[in-house]
Amino acid sequence: MKPEALQSIVIGGAGLMGASMAQAFAHFGFSVTLYDISEAALEKGKKLIALNQKDWVELGLIGEEASGQLQESLRFTTDRSAFRNCGLVVESIVERLEVKQSFWREVSELAGKDCVFATNTSGLSITAIAEAVKGPERFAGMHWFNPSHIVPLVEVIQGEKTAPETADFLYDLALRIGKKPVRVNKDAKGFLANRLQLAVLREALHIVESGIGSPEDVDACMKYGLGLRYAGFGPFEVCDFGGLDTFYHISEYLFPDLSDAKEPFGLLQDRFERGEYGVKTQRGFYVYEDGKAEAAI
Ligand code: NAI
Repeated sequence: MKPEALQSIVIGGAGLMGASMAQAFAHFGFSVTLYDISEAALEKGKKLIALNQKDWVELGLIGEEASGQLQESLRFTTDRSAFRNCGLVVESIVERLEVKQSFWREVSELAGKDCVFATNTSGLSITAIAEAVKGPERFAGMHWFNPSHIVPLVEVIQGEKTAPETADFLYDLALRIGKKPVRVNKDAKGFLANRLQLAVLREALHIVESGIGSPEDVDACMKYGLGLRYAGFGPFEVCDFGGLDTFYHISEYLFPDLSDAKEPFGLLQDRFERGEYGVKTQRGFYVYEDGKAEAAI
């Protein structure tokens, strides 16, 4: 199937991500239904969409009137029969394997045989989720990035049983809605972007734990230096511009010194165990009070 032939999409889970994804599809003319387990969850989704739409209006991505029409066009339901007549289901429910498998067991039975299936899992194995899917060849990962009504990146992940046409379809669809998709050819843990992100986090934690620098200094390095560079270029481009010879010599002496920790550092674990989750609890590596962030270490 080509994305142009796709008519209707059901998004499973009207939470932070599902709500955000729904409007990305609706903006490009797809008929979108959000499915969730309770009316309360759907109401929450509606509110999130209204907030996200304010961002779009402020950024000039959509006019007030069109934004109103987009919100009106979305359907919300707790009725599973929505899955019977759609061309694509994108699941974005709670990140637990058994819950996702149970969702897919039921949905893949209900949906038509040509329906394409995608999961927005952050990092669960696509192959493992697919064990519950009737027709795993039409199932793949489609991993969006928060806030997904703004961030262009979408990873399309091939599970062991995913048919290449399924991954191609999702890739083309992402392009069709103005995203910048990348292909992840193996169902590797963390896919692609989270592997890069966590590699940076691991070294950042190592730097602070070994006294090389503070969290503020690590953040400043990213904000005022590396982040600006990496906003425009990827690591291979940066290497090409800097010179492979230089990067080769640096990697010779630096790679052996970088962290290869296999477990979360105490710095992260201690906070986690104390319930300090960052902005959501007003305390993490910084303390958040009265709209200001102060160093917590
Ligand atoms: P959320 O907690 O905001 O939303 C999850 C929604 O799923 C809730 O509305 C909940 O009622 C609903 N739900 C739970 N079980 C369900 C079921 N059996 N059937 C239908 N709906 C059900 O979570 P969020 O952040 O939107 O995450 C959803 C998925 O997206 C997870 O797999 C997560 O790992 C992934 N993801 C999250 C990102 C993030 O930054 N929050 C980024 C990329 C992916």
